[in-house]
Amino acid sequence: MSNWKQNLQKFRYVMDALLLISFMLVSAPQATGVPLHEWFSLFFIVPFAIHLLLHWDWIQRSFKRLLSKLSARERFNIVWDYLLYIMMLLVFVSGFLVSVALLPALHISLNIQDFWSKMHHDTATLIMPMLGVHLALNLSWIVKLTKRMFAKEAK
Ligand code: HEM
Ligand code: HEM
Repeated sequence: MSNWKQNLQKFRYVMDALLLISFMLVSAPQATGVPLHEWFSLFFIVPFAIHLLLHWDWIQRSFKRLLSKLSARERFNIVWDYLLYIMMLLVFVSGFLVSVALLPALHISLNIQDFWSKMHHDTATLIMPMLGVHLALNLSWIVKLTKRMFAKEAK
């Protein structure tokens, strides 16, 4: 594999690790407190956007591929990524609609509705196992890159 491709893979690996760490931080409002949870969630948009940008090619091709002949696994992977994206949007939108710290700090006041609180609770709970499946589907890549990263470090 050419050098720049290898470096891109390594960059993806580091960004994925950062994304996972920031997701874990965001998913624990009981530990951080709700105000910090809200600010962390806002900053989480950065690694998440980078994650999507680093797969922009894949995303662009995915819809066409879905219409072509594919293995069941590949088809499932594409549909799963779409569902994951929708779920992430729902977590964010509902999060903003139940904000008690971030929006008030920006002088935006909202009437918090039970529907959005429940939506935030349910989507945030559901996205965790969904993410587990996403990581499981990419497990061979994770194992391969982990070996490559640490083999290099041991040199
Ligand atoms: C929040 C934590 C997440 C982590 C830790 C994570 C991790 C990963 C990993 C390890 C890969 C495979 C390696 C790579 O090429 O980078 C990957 C691929 C990908 N991820 Fe994520 N991901 C996350 C969330 C998401 C979400 C919410 C979406 C929404 C669409 C998404 C979309 C994709 C896409 C399109 C790919 C490439 C295609 C694929 O193999 O599935 N990821 N992700
Ligand atoms: C990746 C994005 C996010 C994740 C994974 C996430 C996850 C969670 C989780 C797991 C809870 C505890 C829910 C419960 O036990 O009922 C929670 C509560 C909360 N989140 Fe988020 N959240 C995200 C984004 C946001 C955003 C962007 C905001 C607002 C700016 C927000 C505001 C809140 C508030 C106010 C609570 C406590 C009140 C409630 O549960 O209704 N969240 N979040």
